Amino acid sequence: MIRKNTILITGADGEVGHGLIRQLSPLPDRPALVVLDIRKLDRSLRGLVDRIIVGDVLDTKLLETLSTEYEIDTIFHLAALLSTSSEFNPETAHRVNVQGTVNLLKLSVDHGLTRGKPVKFVYASSIAAYGMPNLETKTSAGKVSEDDYLHPITMYGCNKLYCEHLGRYYARYYQQLSATRSIGVDFRCVRFPGLISAITLPTGGTSDYAPEMLHATAQRKAYAAFVREDTTIPFMVMPDAIKALLALAAAPREQITRQVYNVSSFSRSAGQLADMVKRAFPEAAISFKSSDARQNIVDSWPADVDDSAARHDWGWAPDYGFDRAFDDYLIPTIRGRYQSTT
Ligand code: SER
Repeated sequence: MIRKNTILITGADGEVGHGLIRQLSPLPDRPALVVLDIRKLDRSLRGLVDRIIVGDVLDTKLLETLSTEYEIDTIFHLAALLSTSSEFNPETAHRVNVQGTVNLLKLSVDHGLTRGKPVKFVYASSIAAYGMPNLETKTSAGKVSEDDYLHPITMYGCNKLYCEHLGRYYARYYQQLSATRSIGVDFRCVRFPGLISAITLPTGGTSDYAPEMLHATAQRKAYAAFVREDTTIPFMVMPDAIKALLALAAAPREQITRQVYNVSSFSRSAGQLADMVKRAFPEAAISFKSSDARQNIVDSWPADVDDSAARHDWGWAPDYGFDRAFDDYLIPTIRGRYQSTT
């Protein structure tokens, strides 16, 4: 039996997973889409994929079965506990975020060996991998490159940074002392800024104040952001996040000069985001209360990142700058999203 070329998406029921499935599903002659998540895939997406597996990235038996059933060409590894959730249960986060990634990397090296070609492993990392030492440095640092200020203060950030290193290890040095060298993994990683979708809400992140203020306002609810008004980090809207994942996956191997790439669209303060929301919904009731302990986490993330390597190596450019993100994507889509409920 010839096995069909397959794309495996972990964390498929998260909001990046949703975006990826919607984008990949209609493509002509696409590989089979096999999706894995601890939760059953949202009903609206069930008809768009070839197989839905409800399961855990920690279940190595399940992963072995997948490896024998499918010819896995590409893995989009999205499954993770986000930064806020991880702080409430750091050891669980470590298991899911790190051991889960090791399990998938191991599946990839073994699978690559059987098919005689490395598996493409696209990993979603995060600005949480950074740790700015203080607000002064954050303000003066400008656009931070991939290799600076890597001292994360969250379990999630530590996990993401370590998994970036694991990706490099499995790609280049796996079992480097054994007589037969491994085929490795074609590991490629984007470090995402805060993501904003008009369709879905994230669960358990710390950049969530941005999507939350928009979704609450669109439902005519008041919203108290858990950060100061001047809190600034880079953001990107979901269509650009999906664009980045697919562009990196499609880039010719010889153009990839590094394992980890920053990608970004716009860097704005929470106050500036709120102003944009108010422009569209003048009745918006958005306030700021920075007493929340999460303030410290967002303050440790850079105000902006340098994504010139991605732009240079694989032609990264976001479709949505700040104005366009709101005018052409967020506001019109979210109006449609809540029209029937408001
Ligand atoms: N959005 C993520 C979080 O807040 C950061 O990548 O955890």
